[in-house]
Amino acid sequence: MKAPSQLLTTTLLVGAAFAAPARHYKSVAKRAANSSLPVPALNKLAQAAGLKYFGTATDNPELPNAEYSQYLFGYAPQLFGQVTPANSQKWDATEPEQNVFNYTGGDAIIQPALNHSMIARCHNLNWYNQNPEWLTSGTWDNATLISILQNHIANVVGHYKGQCYAWDVVNEALNDNGTYRSDLWYDTIGPAFIPIAFQAAAAADPNAKLYYNDYNIESPGAKSTAAQQLVSSLKAQGIRIDGVGLQSHFIGGETPTLDSQVANMQAFTALGVEVAVTELDVRVSTPATDAEIAQQATDYATTAQACVNVEGCVGLTVWDFDDQYSWVPGTFPGYGAADLFDANFTAKPAVASIAQVFQSAAANATKHTRR
Ligand SMILES: *[C@@H]1O[C@H](CO)[C@@H](O)[C@H](O)[C@H]1NC(C)=O
Ligand SMILES: *[C@@H]1O[C@H](CO)[C@@H](O)[C@H](O)[C@H]1NC(C)=O
Ligand SMILES: *[C@@H]1O[C@H](CO)[C@@H](O)[C@H](O)[C@H]1NC(C)=O
Ligand SMILES: *[C@@H]1O[C@H](CO)[C@@H](O)[C@H](O)[C@H]1NC(C)=O
Ligand SMILES: *[C@@H]1O[C@H](CO)[C@@H](O)[C@H](O)[C@H]1NC(C)=O
Ligand SMILES: *[C@@H]1O[C@H](CO)[C@@H](O)[C@H](O)[C@H]1NC(C)=O
Ligand SMILES: *[C@@H]1O[C@H](CO)[C@@H](O)[C@H](O)[C@H]1NC(C)=O
Repeated sequence: MKAPSQLLTTTLLVGAAFAAPARHYKSVAKRAANSSLPVPALNKLAQAAGLKYFGTATDNPELPNAEYSQYLFGYAPQLFGQVTPANSQKWDATEPEQNVFNYTGGDAIIQPALNHSMIARCHNLNWYNQNPEWLTSGTWDNATLISILQNHIANVVGHYKGQCYAWDVVNEALNDNGTYRSDLWYDTIGPAFIPIAFQAAAAADPNAKLYYNDYNIESPGAKSTAAQQLVSSLKAQGIRIDGVGLQSHFIGGETPTLDSQVANMQAFTALGVEVAVTELDVRVSTPATDAEIAQQATDYATTAQACVNVEGCVGLTVWDFDDQYSWVPGTFPGYGAADLFDANFTAKPAVASIAQVFQSAAANATKHTRR
């Protein structure tokens, strides 16, 4: 993600494209697939526009909130058709002690999701962060660390075999300048940890799409180029990689242009992988002004439009949907209000602006039949 110190720039474009969210909202709601929804049926509209899904990340602590759960599961699969567990499939949750596996938290999200006809993006198998103490404090030689990685992936992917549309196999392995990140994996195994992880995942679930997932690869630049080289390198070695996740943690008014997001997605799909927007949110400085919230609606819509425009962009996932559960305020002090709904489950203008993108695309016969 971009540094929090980057200031918001102009909000002059505020609301230009979506000047009448309230009026628009009504027309969208009327046409939505399920009239009992209080908001546009974003997943149904995304599918009508040619995408596989519109989904959200979620986390275990918020599931007991009945209103939250109604939006997440109760309106599924009309509102959200896909779910990503934000934390409970990470290494510290799934293998808290060496070779002792715990799927309780992950199952508590994946099972109800599947029961509500949602698809799951599973997240993640290899990362520099949120690893258990036994792993980070150990001193491992190359061969031992490789076997630890292979054992973890075989077990976790094996447990969820057949349940995950996709796995984020390797998460955030690159620096912003395009070099490999120095971390416990790279420093001991070298770049070989990436093909080893993908091979282990492919062996454990032949049907799950295998993704590389990262931030600051949403527009052309050194890091995106490095991620493209990673895809090419894996393919040249005969290693299966099916997709690249563009996290898309954006700042209102500073999101990459439509053209640059489209060109960037196409640079990946040209290599023979699909892309997905995997962690979309648009943070603004708090307290948010109406102008910032209107700009945010434009920014969400731009990324939705980019995905709609690119054959091979399969879907969008927001990084949770209600401001009371957003990771932003805790990570970027002074920023917040990043999600589609405010802390009282009132839809912000971004819900209508995204719906409008999908509706326009669905009304366009060419787009409608593109897959
Ligand atoms: C509409 O949503 C409600 C609440 O989730 C659900 O019970 C119902 O089956 C849905 N109807 C249709 C036609 O999808
Ligand atoms: C497994 O994880 C769940 C959810 O985090 C936790 O409540 C439970 O105590 C864990 N089980 C064991 C045996 O550690
Ligand atoms: C999911 O559906 C299965 C089969 O109907 C059922 O056994 C299970 O309890 C459900 N789980 C959840 C979490 O809804
Ligand atoms: C790339 O970025 C990393 C992390 O900030 C830094 O350690 C490294 O020196 C940089 N390499 C080059 C060639 O700029
Ligand atoms: C670790 O072992 C793997 C598999 O043999 C190899 O590809 C990799 O280069 C080794 N890494 C180092 C740092 O020697
Ligand atoms: C949510 O509603 C409560 C009660 O009406 C109100 O005090 C609070 O300011 C609202 N919060 C937001 C974020 O709108
Ligand atoms: C409809 O699709 C065509 C072909 O992709 C495109 O050129 C045109 O801009 C689209 N129109 C709208 C309103 O989206």
